[in-house]
Amino acid sequence: MAKIGATSAGGVERLTLTDTDKQARDLFVKWLERLDLEVRIDEMGNIFGKRVGKNDALAPVMSGSHIDSQPKGGRFDGILGVMGSLEVLQTIDENNIKTMRPLVIVNWTNEEGSRFAPAMVGSGVWASALERDWVYSRIDRNGYLFVDELERIGYRGSVPARKWPVHAYYEYHIEQGPVLEREGMVVGAPKGIVCLHWYDIYLRGEANQVGPTPMAGRHDALCAAAEMILKVNILPEKTGGDLVATVGEIQNYPNSRNIIPDKIHFTVDIRSWDDRLAQQAWNSLRNSFEEIADRRGCPIRIEETWRVAHSRFDAQLVQRVLDAAQDLGYPALRMVSGAGHDASYMNQVAPTAMIFVPSIGGRSHVEVENTLWTDCEAGANVLLRSILKSAAEA
Ligand code: GLV
Ligand code: MN
Ligand code: MN
Repeated sequence: MAKIGATSAGGVERLTLTDTDKQARDLFVKWLERLDLEVRIDEMGNIFGKRVGKNDALAPVMSGSHIDSQPKGGRFDGILGVMGSLEVLQTIDENNIKTMRPLVIVNWTNEEGSRFAPAMVGSGVWASALERDWVYSRIDRNGYLFVDELERIGYRGSVPARKWPVHAYYEYHIEQGPVLEREGMVVGAPKGIVCLHWYDIYLRGEANQVGPTPMAGRHDALCAAAEMILKVNILPEKTGGDLVATVGEIQNYPNSRNIIPDKIHFTVDIRSWDDRLAQQAWNSLRNSFEEIADRRGCPIRIEETWRVAHSRFDAQLVQRVLDAAQDLGYPALRMVSGAGHDASYMNQVAPTAMIFVPSIGGRSHVEVENTLWTDCEAGANVLLRSILKSAAEA
């Protein structure tokens, strides 16, 4: 899989609904068919593979993650949970195990949200948290429409993207942070995921020749944005708690060294376990944005693009993950996920838990993203145990 979209520095670039996403999906579907799974593709491009259970009428145990990546991303984010689930299904097959409940493996469309904002839209629509047609109408920075790209790569399926009963959902993932490595742990069991707030800021200025135009009286949209971006950076210090706030994307127009910028788009990402703290932080940030825009004579438009409340996973399933790790002799830690995952939306539909393994140096969303193969194996073993336990439940 890491060969599809491989970058020269050892990472992966497999942005959602691109040709590389399609190639990886095709390979995934081939592997599902090789395991004789019943493959379904829904109208969001989510791919499901079902293995029958002894009592096939029972709600299935589901697991999976995502195939798409960040631009210049890593080889593990998302795909580890997809390949881990596949490995579990293959192991169950090789050992001729018939589970009581059916098992379903899933690849969710556009978990990353980097090409088309917001993130986690495949699971979000499936869970009825997001509107399908709103997601279809999202546009990337080159003007491509989500639904057109979904159609183009051949993954706009006919099955409605609508939730069905799920007995338990497990998502296996790299930690993407420094905690497990620092604590010398092999497995992490997050109690849940922080809230995610995404905003898109649009500024207008007045373009002009940079030489003859005096400094006084300029309406430089990039300078207004610069001031705003530093407000974002100091926000966590002001609010306290576990809040993090980031500007990761900016477009500057016309982007010429000798024209005063007259059009800016930038993004704001705010996260915390405390939804109210994130909301208060945004309220104060919004006020300072408006003050800066006003003072600099740069009209502002703010889109409140996306909000997902923090999610607290099912206590019993989280304990099951910790117990499985303990039975297998892997040191394990209860923690919080600062990264967003489809598990956040799945948690609104079914009892959900995640399994984390360490990220070397705490690096993720970068090409050097790495995890020891022995840790990958450990996480997959914990996933296998947890799935078997849930699949045996009446
Ligand atoms: C998902 O990759 C996130 O932004 O946490
Ligand atoms: Mn991920
Ligand atoms: Mn990611």
